[in-house]
Amino acid sequence: MIDLTGKKAVVTGGSSGIGRAIATTLAKVGAHVVVADLTEEAREGGEATAAVIVAAGGSAEFVKLDVTASAHVASVFAELDERLGGLDILVNNAGVLREGSVHETDDETWRTQFLVNVDGTFHCTREMVRGLLARKSPGKIVNISSISGFRGNPGFAAYCATKGAIVNFTRQVALDYAAHGINVNAVAPGFVTTHMTALYDQATHDALAAQTPRGRWASPQDVANAVLFLASPLADHVVGDNLLVDGGWTIGTPVELGA
Ligand SMILES: NC(=O)c1ccc[n+]([C@@H]2O[C@H](COP(=O)([O-])OP(=O)(O)OC[C@H]3O[C@@H](n4cnc5c(N)ncnc54)[C@H](O)[C@@H]3O)[C@@H](O)[C@H]2O)c1
Repeated sequence: MIDLTGKKAVVTGGSSGIGRAIATTLAKVGAHVVVADLTEEAREGGEATAAVIVAAGGSAEFVKLDVTASAHVASVFAELDERLGGLDILVNNAGVLREGSVHETDDETWRTQFLVNVDGTFHCTREMVRGLLARKSPGKIVNISSISGFRGNPGFAAYCATKGAIVNFTRQVALDYAAHGINVNAVAPGFVTTHMTALYDQATHDALAAQTPRGRWASPQDVANAVLFLASPLADHVVGDNLLVDGGWTIGTPVELGA
């Protein structure tokens, strides 16, 4: 039902984890995918994302991108826009997570997470929107926020602040460009099994699964499926939403009442 043949998509942080699943999913339905990351190597090992896509008959390329560097992001997007004849889809997925309650958080830890998660999303969104406006073209931007943008997550002060910023950045940018046919939305994942969440020990992993109404963690594919919807024409009338893919974690905690 979803066919993105002819569409050009950029997935930041596309080498690993959720971004890798998003890239392969968009490519499966025909998009040319630009895997934009610091490194081509997948953190979980295996073939590079673009190679996996091409081996499966899809279309993809790797581009080295550091989302924190404003001028560099502008030149990479300008080159892609020119060479590919315009970009249609941007997925702002690159992100970092560092532990720390606020009293334990030094300036560097705070700034690094804002630089990647918030400034990075801003830099890429700005260049994408500039390109779409210049070509008077519609487009789709999907940010990856988090349940940590809606509720506190004990011991992750800076991360929660960055994801809260992305939740409302999504709404604000969506408002400014809705009339131009540029849809901006976000997917807010719950706990997803990737390199990022390897810091949780098995007991914590199991406890978080038990607190989730669906009873399990998400897979990267669960998140990619929601991104696919928001990047497609099926979501043409969805504007500024943060689509929770959290197995119900945000709506409440399952509680078994005692006998
Ligand atoms: N894993 C989870 O439970 C979870 C939950 C909610 C939201 N998220 C969000 O999903 C996104 C992907 O996370 P993941 O779990 O796949 O993590 P991951 O660590 O597996 O992948 C993150 C990717 O981002 C890239 N990246 C980091 N800094 C970058 C930079 N400056 N420029 C370009 N790329 C950069 C990394 O190289 C890596 O490939 C992040 O935004 C994360 O905050 C993850």
